[in-house]
Amino acid sequence: MTKPTAYTTARIRSDFLEFFRGKGHDIVPSAPLVPANDPTLLFTNSGMVQFKDVFLGAEKRANPRAADVQRCLRAGGKHNDLDSVGYTARHHTFFEMLGNWSFGDYFKKEAIAWAWELLTGVWGLPEDRLLVTVYQTDDEAYALWHDMIGIPAERIVRIGDNKGAPYASDNFWQMADTGPCGPCTEIFYDHGPEHSGGPPGSPDEDGDRYIEIWNLVFMQFDRQPDGTLVPLPAPCVDTGMGLERLAAVLQHVHSNYEIDLFDALIRKASELTGTADLQNKSLRVIADHIRACSFLVVDGVLPSNEGRGYVLRRIIRRALRHGWMLGKREPFFHKLVGTLDTLMGEAYPELGAKRGLVEKALLAEEERFAETLDAGMKIFDDVAAKSGGRSIPGADAFRLYDTYGFPLDLTQDIARERGMTVDTAGFDVAMEKQRETARAAGRFGGGVQLPADLVAQLQPTGFLGYDALQADGLKVLALLRGGRPVEAIDAGDEAIVILDRTPFYGESGGQVGDTGALEGLDTRFAVSDTQKLAGQFHAHFGRLEAGILHRGDTLAGVVDGERRGNIVLNHSATHLLHGALRGLLGTHVAQKGSLVAPDRLRFDFSHFQPVDGEALAEIERRVNVEVRANHPVAIREMGMEEALDAGAIALFGEKYGERVRVVKMGDSVELCGGTHVGGTGEIGLFKLVSEGGVSAGVRRVEALTGQAALDHVMAEERRLREVAGLLGGTTLEVTDKLRAVLERQRRLEREVEAHKARAASGATADLAEQAVEVDGVKVLAARVEGLDAKALRDAMDRLRQQLGDAVIVLAGTSDGRAALVAGVSGTATGRVGAGELVAFVAGRIGGKGGGRPDMAQGGGPDGPELQDALAEVPNWAAAKLSPA
Ligand code: ALA
Repeated sequence: MTKPTAYTTARIRSDFLEFFRGKGHDIVPSAPLVPANDPTLLFTNSGMVQFKDVFLGAEKRANPRAADVQRCLRAGGKHNDLDSVGYTARHHTFFEMLGNWSFGDYFKKEAIAWAWELLTGVWGLPEDRLLVTVYQTDDEAYALWHDMIGIPAERIVRIGDNKGAPYASDNFWQMADTGPCGPCTEIFYDHGPEHSGGPPGSPDEDGDRYIEIWNLVFMQFDRQPDGTLVPLPAPCVDTGMGLERLAAVLQHVHSNYEIDLFDALIRKASELTGTADLQNKSLRVIADHIRACSFLVVDGVLPSNEGRGYVLRRIIRRALRHGWMLGKREPFFHKLVGTLDTLMGEAYPELGAKRGLVEKALLAEEERFAETLDAGMKIFDDVAAKSGGRSIPGADAFRLYDTYGFPLDLTQDIARERGMTVDTAGFDVAMEKQRETARAAGRFGGGVQLPADLVAQLQPTGFLGYDALQADGLKVLALLRGGRPVEAIDAGDEAIVILDRTPFYGESGGQVGDTGALEGLDTRFAVSDTQKLAGQFHAHFGRLEAGILHRGDTLAGVVDGERRGNIVLNHSATHLLHGALRGLLGTHVAQKGSLVAPDRLRFDFSHFQPVDGEALAEIERRVNVEVRANHPVAIREMGMEEALDAGAIALFGEKYGERVRVVKMGDSVELCGGTHVGGTGEIGLFKLVSEGGVSAGVRRVEALTGQAALDHVMAEERRLREVAGLLGGTTLEVTDKLRAVLERQRRLEREVEAHKARAASGATADLAEQAVEVDGVKVLAARVEGLDAKALRDAMDRLRQQLGDAVIVLAGTSDGRAALVAGVSGTATGRVGAGELVAFVAGRIGGKGGGRPDMAQGGGPDGPELQDALAEVPNWAAAKLSPA
């Protein structure tokens, strides 16, 4: 679709740099997307970021003029275009910014004159297609455009504070909520009346006709956290021109997605996804996102569940969902990295250097999300249908997030495509609820926070415990009592001790913290738990049992070795279990949680149905094969790429540093900071003891190792022998013996039932003879022993048949309670009610009863009154049958 053009993106980059080199500028390389040492900013969002300290006067450059082509990311943070990608012709997450700078050197006049010269003189853009904006009160910039350049007044637009606060304006630029800022003048290109949209400052300025291509910022202030503007040491110039937008203009296309660079990416994406229509919006999104994702990995970000890593994860998952919409079910996204390298590798050699890592990191994330994307989309469809196509309830959006890995903005994006919204407030509530549950479940040290000034003083604790369980000369760097730093603690105090080095493992990666003792000459601190605070300080929780302990003292540390020994077995077994689960159930099995304790291990993993007994037995068998193989456990530190090469299973929710620790045993390779056995044979025996569900799509198994596993098996055996003894046989005969016993029991139960029935019919024959006749009706009130309510009802049915016209009440007793059944039949029906009869008798014994006119039931205490009550029934019936 793109016509061959003289102005390739490569040429535009070099034209730009050459032009400013000719004006005395130093050419500076692009900085990474992750700003160095700048916590105020998530990503490099413009060219000036790497010069922030120069503007503020904290850093000096030999040459006060510089120019560069800077890679930028506007996703998450103050400048965020993620939600616009795919919906407009000109928004990107990742883009390149051409910029020139003056650090206290030239100012508005040169900046404006050179911009005009480059656009119209060098590149030959028609002057009547260009418009400019200036900040409302910037008469100086206005005059330069009008008088020096000669732009007619109708093509110069003044823009004031149009964002609801002083200095909040499209023409007042700031890097972030704080930092360098100033008024700006912007140059717009008019793509022509065939496109809709109005000029800047008009109500429909956001259309696609007038596109901002270059922003010249006159940096004059440093915005403080309280909003005040402090003048910079010297006025500066910061300009930014979008390479992609400029390329669209110079290549005579309207959309950025039609320029040379995107054309090639879109063609590759269409080939990989089998999509013929090159205009498809999803191809554009994928082409945009591969640039952002690749450069993020190049610049040291890996997908994770927080911070920059989570922004990366969100962008990748959006791209994958678009691939899914195009019908793509296998990994494809990572295959675009090669094409990107061909297109941009010359300008950014770091991309080629890290291509392997980028591909692996993207593929790993593709495989991970593939497991839940399909299921999540089905859930979305169900929920959308149930909600009548209006709003996705927050709880459902949270379920998609928590169980299916759909970031909220992904769910919103899908909803938006279907004209729906998402209840984000409800999502927040669900999220907060889960956090509270997690907090409540948190263990001992969970809630402790180190004071910030203490953290600033401390060095990360040196961990000695991979090799040693004891160490001397450990220096007390800090003591905390009641959460506050103190200089000393006394015997009896509950406290936290922080040392310079320690053999105590701090709880992490599921492995619980060590216990043991810290000992000085006459002090002893019993350690009941060790936690890692702020991620890097081992905090020993416990109680000082003797002496006084001061900050600065030196101690010896002794870890409870037996306990740690058991923990180690469970940790190594967890890796083998993870491997066996993935081997048998599939690689979608991902660790969702883990507890490695001295007495057991617990492992939560993603899987969509219960694991049946047969599969569990097979998993147990496979793990034990690995145990008996006695694989040596090899532990090495290496770079992330090498680790992924080695096939390491990385838990991307975790945070990993530059160097990662890789634990290999047999075929299992995992990134892990925990402690392990020397050879898998030490595990001895692996025994699964339970399997169950934790939440939708997450299963949990628990298992034992070593002596605990053997104890478990022996206890089961003992129980089996006891049962065999009771059955009077050997353990081998137990099943047959038990089956025989159960059969005999069933036969006896049947016999008992038959006997009861016979006894009941015999009893009723006798009873019938006790009936007295009142006014042509047989009246019977009798007590029958040993019949429950059901047997009483059966007896009643037989008596009504035998006696014909009758009024009957039977009382059975058991456990000191009387059960009553009353029946009326034949001509007596309608003259006497069974309900009133049972109520009469029950009333006399302090009980209750009721029912239909022909059949009723009741009950009450079984006492001497019962016999009296029954004796009165003939008289009561006589009164009813022949009222006076
Ligand atoms: N820093 C200015 C911008 O990003 C040039 O628009």
